[in-house]
Amino acid sequence: MRMYDLIMKKRNGGTLSDEEISFMIENYTKGEIPDYQMSAMMMAIFFQGMTEEETLALTMAMAHSGDMLDLSDIQGIKVDKHSTGGVGDKTSLALTPMVAALGVPVAKMSGRGLGHTGGTIDKLESFEGFSTGISEEQFKKNVNHIGISIMGQTADLAPADKKLYALRDVTATVDNMSLIASSIMSKKLAAGADAIVLDVKTGSGAFMKTEEDSFALAREMVKLGNGAGRKTVAVISDMDQPLGYAVGNALEVKEAIDTLNGNGPEDFVELCLTLGSYMVVAANKAASVEEAREKLIRVIENKEALEKLADFIEAQGGNREQVYHPERLPKADIIEEIAAPKAGYIERIVCDEIGICSLILGGGRETKDSEIDLAVGLVLHKKVGDKVEAGEALATIHANDRGKLEAAKKRFLDAYTISDICVTKKKLIKGIVTE
Ligand code: URA
Repeated sequence: MRMYDLIMKKRNGGTLSDEEISFMIENYTKGEIPDYQMSAMMMAIFFQGMTEEETLALTMAMAHSGDMLDLSDIQGIKVDKHSTGGVGDKTSLALTPMVAALGVPVAKMSGRGLGHTGGTIDKLESFEGFSTGISEEQFKKNVNHIGISIMGQTADLAPADKKLYALRDVTATVDNMSLIASSIMSKKLAAGADAIVLDVKTGSGAFMKTEEDSFALAREMVKLGNGAGRKTVAVISDMDQPLGYAVGNALEVKEAIDTLNGNGPEDFVELCLTLGSYMVVAANKAASVEEAREKLIRVIENKEALEKLADFIEAQGGNREQVYHPERLPKADIIEEIAAPKAGYIERIVCDEIGICSLILGGGRETKDSEIDLAVGLVLHKKVGDKVEAGEALATIHANDRGKLEAAKKRFLDAYTISDICVTKKKLIKGIVTE
């Protein structure tokens, strides 16, 4: 088999066989197919598309390109959750202890933030001493004993995707539905869960800007997950404005803790209950999503989810007292309000710009190796549809550098549009895709 022939076949609109796709991925991972040939193949796929069978074959080949995590030592049905990423998305921090409190084993691999979106691992490191750098053995032991563990993605999880994603990033071939779906799902399949609940974001802060594209991506990923024998559901949720109010690592941790204390923002609570219900049903811990929802509300009310978070933080070296005293999390030196320039109704918030404000303050990473400031960020006070008076606070900004604060503040004000006429609030859950 020759890569040249495969490129030609795809370029001319042909369909690649499972064997051809395996050959291509195996040899690319080993370094035997050069980047320039793979770039040509990605561009051919970009223009010619892939059939369902080809997409599944690509997903499976990438999933098998490295370690396939074996979670069979963990009792119960393991359910993973994945978000396509957004601003203020601290869902895993509150959701995983909620479902774990109901006996759903959570064995999760998470990533760090890059660009305007945050990462669960960075947020968790707001707890003194907390580490995700644990061994696979410790990871499984923690899930069996406490019900929850989160570790950093190992280098050998779907290495073909890692290489290919970096290549797509610099060859203008990222935004193809089949390539995105196979990239995300290859990592999920390699991470070993029995069932997967996907949170596909839609809007200005998301990868997919339109609902139509978000639903199409959701359908594609659900088909791949189910095709690979893992029960998969996708929730399509709004990311046209930040989720909840807090944006920034320790600030988001505090909001997640507030949520487990029964004081969470309405949209954030709704998302946790929706995703959580599907996770609980997938793990056979409730017969219906309605029953699961009731149970999830109860573990917030009786503080079992909060206790579960404290147990999890402690098991990975963190200080559990910060769960009960979130005021002891990292704090910024300068805390100031940003005043509304005029009265009216919030019409629009350019969501990714709010993520960029946090990045400017030092809360995000410009490159893979940047150091981040866990304390900085923003807490919004007004979201789309809210009424505001001139001079009233739109947000509170948390900074450790006056120059960065001024830069972020200017950008923040440019991201808000205030209208004279009443604006309807945004719907959070846009739909559910089950098959
Ligand atoms: N996230 C991924 O992991 N892969 C893509 O292709 C796009 C987003």
